[in-house]
Amino acid sequence: MPNDTRPVTIPDFAAWKSQRRPISVLTAYDFPTARLLDGAGVDCLLVGDSLGTVIQGWETTLRVTLDQMIYHAEMVARAARRALVVADLPFLTYQVSTRQALRSAGRLLKETNCQAVKLEGGRSMVRTITALVQAGIPVMGHVGLQPQAVRRLGGYKVQRSSEGILTDAQAVADAGAFAVVLECIPTSLAARITDAVSIPTIGIGAGPRCDGQVLVVHDMLGLIENFRPKFVRHYAELGQQVRAAVAAYVADVAAGRFPGEVESFR
Ligand code: KIV
Repeated sequence: MPNDTRPVTIPDFAAWKSQRRPISVLTAYDFPTARLLDGAGVDCLLVGDSLGTVIQGWETTLRVTLDQMIYHAEMVARAARRALVVADLPFLTYQVSTRQALRSAGRLLKETNCQAVKLEGGRSMVRTITALVQAGIPVMGHVGLQPQAVRRLGGYKVQRSSEGILTDAQAVADAGAFAVVLECIPTSLAARITDAVSIPTIGIGAGPRCDGQVLVVHDMLGLIENFRPKFVRHYAELGQQVRAAVAAYVADVAAGRFPGEVESFR
């Protein structure tokens, strides 16, 4: 648990980079989970459009809508007492025009009380990021593997075009983003980017030389049992625990052992 319980702010991210104080980020999609993660001391809660896969059960994030993001981000922002809450702009709610991006990001901030938005893309997003930041909307960038581009990329693969990804991260930083996610790139490239850019890098599948780390909470808690990518560490095996608990309940009901005296009213 951090000693400092005051709410995390955007300027804290810059300060933490200069202090080399690692930043912890986890995804969250609902009130009780966000309360638990926040209480356990995570610095930042990301309402990721990964909810399309881990909550909705789709194979990609492409179907997630802005209204769905608002529904989830509102619950998470209401639960968080200390952590900074960032919400993803979903596919095609910001790529069409700067005007569209301003409207979508504005809705996210105004209707959910989250503090910042995240969007995918590097050089192609410079005008958009500049416009959002000028309007007072903090932006977290996202380069390397961009899940919203999965159709173009042909799958979820490690991205190795070093110069392109470095230029993208630099462009996102120069446009005014306060942090940038580096997804699925080699450790050496993530280290080069972390040294080169002035804003914190938040890695997922990008090795230890980032300023912070992010994981999808369902992955790190072992809730998604058929998806175990190399970059995930399982801090719990909740999938196994849930199955054992439910099997015990079913057996108790079948045998007439539940409810017992203590769970019944006189
Ligand atoms: O959608 C998401 O959860 C993300 C993280 C994996 C970085 O973008």
